[in-house]
Amino acid sequence: MNSNSENYNNIYRTEISKIEKRLSLFIKGKEPKSLYEPCSYILNGGGKRLRPFLVLISAKAVGGRFNDVYNAAIAVEILHNFTLAHDDIMDNSPKRRGRITLHKKYDVNTAILAGDNLIALAYENLLKDCNANTKKIVSTFTQAVIEVCEGQSMDKDFELRKNVSISEYQRMIYKKTAALAEMCCSIGAQLCDASTNEIRAVSNYGKNLGMAFQIQDDLLDIVGKENHFGKTIGSDLVEGKKTYLFLRALEKSNFKDRSQLIRIIKRKGITRSEIYKYSSLYLKLGVIKDAEKEITKYTKLALKNLSSLKDGEGKNLMIWLANVLIKRNK
Ligand code: IPE
Ligand code: IPE
Ligand code: MG
Ligand code: MG
Ligand code: MG
Repeated sequence: MNSNSENYNNIYRTEISKIEKRLSLFIKGKEPKSLYEPCSYILNGGGKRLRPFLVLISAKAVGGRFNDVYNAAIAVEILHNFTLAHDDIMDNSPKRRGRITLHKKYDVNTAILAGDNLIALAYENLLKDCNANTKKIVSTFTQAVIEVCEGQSMDKDFELRKNVSISEYQRMIYKKTAALAEMCCSIGAQLCDASTNEIRAVSNYGKNLGMAFQIQDDLLDIVGKENHFGKTIGSDLVEGKKTYLFLRALEKSNFKDRSQLIRIIKRKGITRSEIYKYSSLYLKLGVIKDAEKEITKYTKLALKNLSSLKDGEGKNLMIWLANVLIKRNK
């Protein structure tokens, strides 16, 4: 690590610990416990805190200050945690951030309601930072909530479909993941009265970073290590998800290999002990490499958007983050 990246890494750590303090403080002591304990379980469960960091660095990249956008940063993390609580129910996931998932620790009904409450708490925090252009900012935020729900619906629909094209997959991950990253950057800039060009530049950065992020999440579901990734490896195969790797494997496979893949489409009950067969097939077909190329492609697209921004610490943090994420293992 050179001294610059060490410096950016320190800024990341410092800011993330401020975010975590605020996240735990704002619901402390709230009642009823039956609602707020589960909310605090998920909010205080660690995680990379990527989305609030995107709000902060976008604000800085357009000449604003971290101090002006902390509540908005908290808001996007709360919103993200809502999506995780409900996503884990929808995906039958037992593990997240190295811990038992919310609906397994409590029960499904508790996790649904905690998720609902988190959406409202997200808005409550967002509004604290809004001044002049509240309508525009709340509308940007709301649009992202809608996109996530639409994307999650497509993700579930695709489980039941035989033929999903790569471009349908791209649209789905844009909605379920990239739109939220795009929104984080957009509101960070909007809250600091950025110009239309600046808002566009940081939003496109967030969008492309989000695309890379989801493909990498699909990749880590296969090649990741459970103790780093914090989630059960191979769960996308078990759930019949149409991931980038799966769709590319289907495209590239011969007759014999395809029958193995079709078992996933037919939801023939792949067991955990068979996952290694699929990871070897993915390796043989070169789809692990394809996914890595795709992640690099979107990361480069993200970075390209930054050239129009003024040089400075905010922009440097955005460059640093994209380069760190490409190497992530969790
Ligand atoms: C998980 O997001 C959901 C996806 C969009 C893949 P993160 O990987 O950012 O989860 P945490 O917050 O760091 O746990
Ligand atoms: C993430 O998709 C999308 C949202 C949480 C909105 P995944 O289902 O792949 O996320 P993980 O892998 O469970 O974190
Ligand atoms: Mg999911
Ligand atoms: Mg999931
Ligand atoms: Mg995943």
